[in-house]
Amino acid sequence: MAPISFARGIPGPDLLPIAEFGACAQRALERDGATALNYGPPGGYPPLRAWIAERHGVEPSRVVVTNGSLQGFQFVAKHYAEQGARFFVEAPCYDRSLQILRALEVETREVELAEDGLDIDALEGFLRAGDVVYTIPTFQNPSGRTLSRSSRERLLGLVRERGAVLFEDDPYGLLRFEGESLPQLFELAGGDGVLFLSSFSKTVAPGIRTGYVILPEGLVPAIETLVLTSYVSPAIFVEAALFEFVAAGRFEPNLARVTDALRIRRDAMLAALSRELPEGARWNEPEGGYFLWLDLPVGVDTGSLLARASEQDVTFVRGSDFYLGPGGEESVRLAFSYASATEIGEGIARLGRLVHEAAAVAA
Ligand SMILES: Cc1ncc(COP(=O)(O)O)c(C=O)c1O
Repeated sequence: MAPISFARGIPGPDLLPIAEFGACAQRALERDGATALNYGPPGGYPPLRAWIAERHGVEPSRVVVTNGSLQGFQFVAKHYAEQGARFFVEAPCYDRSLQILRALEVETREVELAEDGLDIDALEGFLRAGDVVYTIPTFQNPSGRTLSRSSRERLLGLVRERGAVLFEDDPYGLLRFEGESLPQLFELAGGDGVLFLSSFSKTVAPGIRTGYVILPEGLVPAIETLVLTSYVSPAIFVEAALFEFVAAGRFEPNLARVTDALRIRRDAMLAALSRELPEGARWNEPEGGYFLWLDLPVGVDTGSLLARASEQDVTFVRGSDFYLGPGGEESVRLAFSYASATEIGEGIARLGRLVHEAAAVAA
């Protein structure tokens, strides 16, 4: 049996703009090779920085382009950790961010993620000045959930009232298949008082390792110092190639193509889940992004399910991996970004058979 992965949040090979990016890399060298192949400023390749800044309506000096957005997360988290800040994260939350917070030994508290995003009532009881609230409000990793507009406004109001810091991570927001687009927290805030993190990993390609963070002007020198002391300058050549890509008007058409392909995969997964999963299983229907969250019938142990599934060459990530404390024991994250629609049908059929068996044993 061919292996089918619902585990990794990575794009399928057909989603990558291989030939187009190759042509852009070539042109970047022809146009600006001496700059592209040298060290550059810690904030990134200036034309790309300016393009990002214009899209977000900010000064280029507030944008720091990093080698992947996770690196941006690491820098910002390190900065606040050194100031003794407490972090609030969603439960469940993107596991790599959790690993970074753990490694930094930051005091981190989990806030339950409701159907429509972060539970703001729960946050309200604890939040105080200087705390950092890290949130992935749109098509969240791992749950695929999205914070409603009214909750966005409430969250922003609460953070402002308490003098806390809001750190928005938004790599998936542009990958919307349907439904009304919601403003980023950063946009709702008018570009002030929210740290905004995003990435080209899901809209162009993860291999280019290009993400960025938009900071308040005053924080830029501290983050640029972290850049200088870790890798001197980001990968300027790749950023120059990416600039060619966006300047040639390829970003939006590529995004449309990727979003269409992801919608087909999401639909294939929803149809297969309805067909193959037993009663008692529940899942959400995200309007975009890479993931959905599957709650298994009561009593199904995800550890042994994963072991059995791996034997059948189908993989997923256990829900509990996305929690610092207990939680997610009867849930799994399914990524629909990598496998083709046909593979998704086959993989969910394999998984469905195993869930049927496990549910029968648990009953
Ligand atoms: C929520 C979230 N933040 C950050 C990242 C890291 O992205 P990058 O490839 O830009 O480092 C990911 C990647 O999966 C993600 O899901």
